[in-house]
Amino acid sequence: MKRTTTALSFLSLGLAASAGRSCKCMPGQPCFPTQEEWTAFGSKLSTPETLIVGQRPMGAVCYPSDPLFDVNACQALNSSVNGFNHVFMSAQIDATNWLNLDSVVTEKGLDGCPYFPLAQNATCNQGRVPPYAVNVTSVQDIVEAVNFASEHNLRLVVKNTGHEAIGRPFGVGALEIFTHNLKNLTIHDSFVPQGAPEGTEGVPAMTMAAGVDWRQAYESIERVNRSVVGGLSPVGTVGAAGGWQLGTGQSVASPVFGLGVDNNLEFTVVLPNGTVTTVNEYLTPDLWWAIRGGGGPSFGVLVDVTVKSHPGAEYTSAFFVSQAADDESYLELLTLWMKYHNNISDAGWGGVWPFVGRGLSLSFGARGNPPENPNGLPTFQAFFDDAKKLSNVNVSLAEFHVFSSFGEFVETQLVDPNTVIGFNSTAIVPGQVQSVTGSWLMPREVTAAENAESFAKLLANMTILAVPFFVGGGVVEDVSKNETSAANPAWRHTLTDLTMSAGGPASIDPNLLEQAVHENLKPFRALAPPPYGGQYVNEADVLEEEWQIAHWGTQYPRLLAIKKELDPNDLLIVYHGVNSEDWDREIICKTTDGTQSGSSGSSGSSGSSEATCPGAPTESSPSSPSQGSEGSTSPSSPAQGSPSQGSPSEGSPSPAQPSTGAPSPDHGSHGHGSHGHHSQASPSGTLAPSQSSPAPSSVPSGGSEEEDDDICESA
Ligand SMILES: Cc1cc2nc3c(=O)[nH]c(=O)nc-3n(C[C@H](O)[C@H](O)[C@H](O)COP(=O)(O)OP(=O)(O)OC[C@H]3O[C@@H](n4cnc5c(N)ncnc54)[C@H](O)[C@@H]3O)c2cc1C
Ligand SMILES: *[C@@H]1O[C@H](CO)[C@@H](O)[C@H](O)[C@H]1NC(C)=O
Ligand SMILES: *[C@@H]1O[C@H](CO)[C@@H](O)[C@H](O)[C@H]1NC(C)=O
Ligand SMILES: *[C@@H]1O[C@H](CO)[C@@H](O)[C@H](O)[C@H]1NC(C)=O
Ligand SMILES: *[C@@H]1O[C@H](CO)[C@@H](O)[C@H](O)[C@H]1NC(C)=O
Ligand SMILES: *[C@@H]1O[C@H](CO)[C@@H](O)[C@H](O)[C@H]1NC(C)=O
Ligand SMILES: *[C@@H]1O[C@H](CO)[C@@H](O)[C@H](O)[C@H]1NC(C)=O
Ligand SMILES: *[C@@H]1O[C@H](CO)[C@@H](O)[C@H](O)[C@H]1NC(C)=O
Ligand SMILES: *[C@@H]1O[C@H](CO)[C@@H](O)[C@H](O)[C@H]1NC(C)=O
Ligand SMILES: *[C@@H]1O[C@H](CO)[C@@H](O)[C@H](O)[C@H]1NC(C)=O
Ligand SMILES: *[C@@H]1O[C@H](CO)[C@@H](O)[C@H](O)[C@H]1NC(C)=O
Ligand SMILES: *[C@@H]1O[C@H](CO)[C@@H](O)[C@H](O)[C@H]1NC(C)=O
Repeated sequence: MKRTTTALSFLSLGLAASAGRSCKCMPGQPCFPTQEEWTAFGSKLSTPETLIVGQRPMGAVCYPSDPLFDVNACQALNSSVNGFNHVFMSAQIDATNWLNLDSVVTEKGLDGCPYFPLAQNATCNQGRVPPYAVNVTSVQDIVEAVNFASEHNLRLVVKNTGHEAIGRPFGVGALEIFTHNLKNLTIHDSFVPQGAPEGTEGVPAMTMAAGVDWRQAYESIERVNRSVVGGLSPVGTVGAAGGWQLGTGQSVASPVFGLGVDNNLEFTVVLPNGTVTTVNEYLTPDLWWAIRGGGGPSFGVLVDVTVKSHPGAEYTSAFFVSQAADDESYLELLTLWMKYHNNISDAGWGGVWPFVGRGLSLSFGARGNPPENPNGLPTFQAFFDDAKKLSNVNVSLAEFHVFSSFGEFVETQLVDPNTVIGFNSTAIVPGQVQSVTGSWLMPREVTAAENAESFAKLLANMTILAVPFFVGGGVVEDVSKNETSAANPAWRHTLTDLTMSAGGPASIDPNLLEQAVHENLKPFRALAPPPYGGQYVNEADVLEEEWQIAHWGTQYPRLLAIKKELDPNDLLIVYHGVNSEDWDREIICKTTDGTQSGSSGSSGSSGSSEATCPGAPTESSPSSPSQGSEGSTSPSSPAQGSPSQGSPSEGSPSPAQPSTGAPSPDHGSHGHGSHGHHSQASPSGTLAPSQSSPAPSSVPSGGSEEEDDDICESA
């Protein structure tokens, strides 16, 4: 440890700062805060326990070689993780939802701490789990954390539920702001934003603190017989006031009430300079525009958000489950669905349409009983009738249900596994702890009936689980709103957000999963390249090269300008987030001096003249040579007899990978919710975690970084 005196630390801080913040200050470097400074920081927080120093990965308790080894704790963890308890996972301070996001993805695979050792003498490596965390219970805790990180040039990350798709809530050597315990919620009969002109009429609304999740949100608003636009996830575990809002927010209720960004009224935010600010259209018009869709946490740490509420209403659902017997009839089934796709949107429906392994399921809903749109029932019924006429397609469910409210629909479908109708979104696959997601926004013209067959061919050709969100259309399609927020303008002509995911056990190489998603997205991206089509920033493909235009279309330059002004020292940068161009994948060092726009992020820190920081992982190369691995069926090798194309009997050799078949009505495949519990090919090789850096035991810096102090300063 070279961290000897306070004076030295201050000196190094000066050096780091004078280097134009080209690197973050990492544990072990002289610039890093001393124990005394951490203690002083901790004493400013709500309680003596609020600051966690030396935070270790969740799985550390399962490693005999680890100081935290604890047989009982490991057993408890096993029952939560292998049962995949969504509530447990989303409440962890020391884990995101997915092992691959807690780990550094190197060319060799996953460097981290699989929850259970993959080999007898394996070590638990720190990976991307932040060694310092603030378990926030007050706004002041956030302010102090922002100021401390800013003062010491630390890598700062914000974690709520960890549902995010490319690892933005965590980071190597970072200080974590954990917002999940901020559960305040207030319902307003009449809300008027601060600074609104005299006489502005109030609207019914709900204010949710940063840690509120959709289950709490729906339960609360249902009690007053009202409704809010929100996401779908098992047990409502996606955050209602974090990444969902900041990244746009799509909902099956969006066709009726709009995107999340269309329903925002006001935010309370801690800005990068530590100021607590009210953000709304009157007080801060630029930030108001940028924060709605710009992606968390790029424009500040959200403390709470106030959203419109809408009158309660009964909710009519349409459920459909089908299984084709062969490839030809599968194509007919998907073609028929695509012929109806746009009409069903125009008839007022929202929903999800998961398909895999020759099976297609629809779980849809429309407001009202009967649906407010008079074409609602007849249009869906016509599809049901036509589908039943297909030969070699087994339609095992095709019916309507009426729920007393949207909340009851969500409770039935996503909270209580026993009441699920149709596609079982609560189903889980034990041990599928890695997940990679991607998406593409499909413009209405692309999904039009005249393209039904060609589009269906692409769908049928997919090798991973797709859970398309049918959330556009209706009022989302109001093109006059296309520039009213930073949300991707492509949403305004999109009906389906084509979401897909690949998952696997701890032993699988995450590069294979990333490539599988990227490859499967390609044909759809090609049909609607950005900015015509685009990608949902909350379901980002980590290998997307043109991420700026893919996430934000032509609005990116404005977003970038606002970000640069608000956060000149790059405090809140995330991978493929606004103004992340020059940073390496782990946001530890800038890889260029800014002359290269660096859109691919794949150039790698090693490829630049700039030094590589200690602890900076090697960039995982998008085109790393792991594809098509040794004969085993991998998700990235669609040409081989792929799992979803094979007959059910070819797949599923073990309970860990059961879902090569289609969802079945009773115990269908895995939840869209579980993004990544999907038909997984057999793991292509067992990857042992890198064992290069034994877990630090008592080192407060906690990281597995090597103590190579000087390189960043020299940059
Ligand atoms: C099972 C599942 C179902 C989903 N369903 C939907 C859906 O129906 N509709 C939809 O639109 N999306 C859906 N998503 C995607 C979801 O919107 C994103 O995963 C979202 O980023 C989750 O936000 P979070 O706050 O819950 O999670 P986190 O992973 O904790 O945070 C996500 C991002 O937001 C940042 N962030 C979190 N809290 C704050 C804060 N207080 N201030 C600033 N930044 C913050 C984090 O740094 C991170 O970058 C789903 C995802 C999953 C895994
Ligand atoms: C976890 O629990 C399951 C079921 O009880 C058991 O089969 C498995 O061996 C356990 N794994 C570990 C690592 O303890
Ligand atoms: C771990 O154990 C295996 C065999 O059990 C052995 O080959 C290997 O050298 C060991 N590795 C370490 C780092 O001890
Ligand atoms: C974080 O704080 C909450 C109370 O807000 C507490 O219940 C929880 O145990 C704390 N978590 C950790 C890891 O300290
Ligand atoms: C939550 O609400 C209570 C009561 O209004 C208030 O005292 C408290 O400060 C709030 N906490 C946060 C974190 O907003
Ligand atoms: C809820 O409100 C709707 C109108 O918005 C009304 O039709 C319905 O009867 C109300 N339900 C209950 C249970 O009060
Ligand atoms: C879709 O709607 C159009 C316009 O009403 C109609 O001509 C067409 O037949 C419908 N498609 C199907 C498959 O019903
Ligand atoms: C159709 O699917 C149902 C439910 O999976 C199953 O019970 C039934 O046997 C299937 N029928 C045919 C003809 O395959
Ligand atoms: C849905 O999946 C869950 C978890 O696998 C299971 O317990 C439940 O029985 C399933 N529900 C139905 C209705 O099949
Ligand atoms: C928004 O829509 C209008 C009208 O179609 C169009 O002229 C404008 O270019 C669009 N803006 C963006 C950013 O797509
Ligand atoms: C913090 O930043 C905001 C937005 O740029 C600015 O309005 C405010 O004056 C700044 N506060 C301080 C104390 O610098
Ligand atoms: C389906 O995938 C295979 C293998 O990737 C490819 O060769 C073929 O062209 C694809 N078919 C269509 C219709 O895209």
